[in-house]
Formats: sequence, C-alpha cells, structure tokens
Amino acid sequence: MKTDMKVWAHRGCSQRYPENTMLAFEKALGLGNLEGIELDIQMTKDNHLVVIHDERVDRTTEGVGYVKDFTLKELKKFHIYAGQHNSQEIPTIEEVIELLGKRLNPEDEKRIKLNIELKNSIYSYPGMEEKIVELVYKKGIEKAVVYSSFYALSLERLRELDPTAVLGVLDTKISDCLYKAQGLGADALHPFWKSMDLPEERIKGRTVRAWFGGHLFPEKPTGGRLDLDALRRKGITDVFLNEPEMYL
Ligand code: G3P
Ligand code: CA
Repeated sequence: MKTDMKVWAHRGCSQRYPENTMLAFEKALGLGNLEGIELDIQMTKDNHLVVIHDERVDRTTEGVGYVKDFTLKELKKFHIYAGQHNSQEIPTIEEVIELLGKRLNPEDEKRIKLNIELKNSIYSYPGMEEKIVELVYKKGIEKAVVYSSFYALSLERLRELDPTAVLGVLDTKISDCLYKAQGLGADALHPFWKSMDLPEERIKGRTVRAWFGGHLFPEKPTGGRLDLDALRRKGITDVFLNEPEMYL
C-alpha cells in the first residue's frame, strides 16, 4: 500500500507474536519502511527497567503480582506464551536496545526510532526517568528515542534531565495532548485515534502519532483494515499498529 503515513510496530509485531518480547521486536526489525518500534517500561523491586505493558505480570505470564514487587531474577523465571515459538521471557530495556543495535543509528540506511513509553501513571517509580535517560546516553541512542508517558510530571522530569529529549504527550483526546504539550514544550502529540477532537488546522505541522486498541496475540486478527489516507486527512502523521506487517 502506498501511503505517506508513518507506521510503528506497537509493542513490536504484537498481533502475531507476544507483545513486548524479543520475538515481537525481531519480527518488527524484519519489516521494510518501518518508522519505529514502540514499547512500555516498568520498574522492578531492585530498580531494573523491564519491558512489559501492565503493572502486573498476570495477563502475559503465569505469574501473579506486581512487577514492582519482584526482583529482575524472579521476573525472568516467568514464561510468556508464544504459540509455536519458544516461550519468551520479560526483556529488560537494555536487552531490547542491544537487539535493535545499529538500526537505532540515524546514519543507518534502515534506521528506525524507538518510542519508550514510561508506564508510570499508576506507580510513579521514583528514579525511573534518571535511569532511562542514563541508559539511553550510555548506549548512544539519544537521537533515535522518543519518550512518552500519560504522566505529565514524568515528561516534565525528562525535559529537566535532557533538554534535547524528544517528548510525545500521551492522552486520549488530542485537545488534552495539545494542552499538556504547550506547558511541557513537547514535540509530538500521541492521542487515541478516535479522539481527534480538534480541526486539522489546529494541529497542522505537528507530529501526531495515534494509538489504537485492537487485537493482541494470541487473539485472532479480525482482518479489518484501516483507511490510512482518511486518518492522514484528520492530521494523524504516524500510527502505532499491532500488525504493522499488514501495511508495509
Ligand atoms: O503509546 C501509545 C500506546 O501504546 C498507549 O497505550 O495501553 O497500548 O500502552 P497502551
Ligand atoms: Ca504503550
């Protein structure tokens, strides 16, 4: 399909493979013209940053409880069901950055971006911003990273820590994203795709990355297709898709 919409792999290729796993990220790396990969981070009891969407491990592993109450060693024992593939483990963000490797180099001809969503609006995880900024600089990938969060104070802290950080404001309505972005000096708006409650001229020239609900592995795909050109006309420039392979 020919479109100027930028396509991201949401939690990796998370419709056909288990979300936020090395397998889902490896599959995303195999796609051409991918704009980037989105993932979620939480923090363990012993202050490691791990890639998992929920505050709890229950939905995606056989474990029961909160990420914040397990050490990294304990979390690594849990399995993530992957169908015909080997079961996966919860990755650290450092492991994922190492997997993406040179593809995060802006000079690479197949370069991609990495959207790190800090999942800190329920538990604020003190020190999370410092840890991720330090790691991003240690790995030399700061030019490839977009940080996002639903928690405005976290974006404010990221801006203090790194005045050059690229920030995406997450919210449901795009009007709320815009309001917060103005206070934060943020670069991009990350609204829910059905909550575009501003006319296109109010957001013209801005980066608008829309997120979706949709089905996740191991649910079956519905076969439904989005009209990316119609979304583009609403002012959306990028989409986070569970099944980016359907559009690339
Ligand atoms: O970052 C966009 C999107 O991922 C936000 O929603 O629940 O999938 O993390 P969620
Ligand atoms: Ca997310």
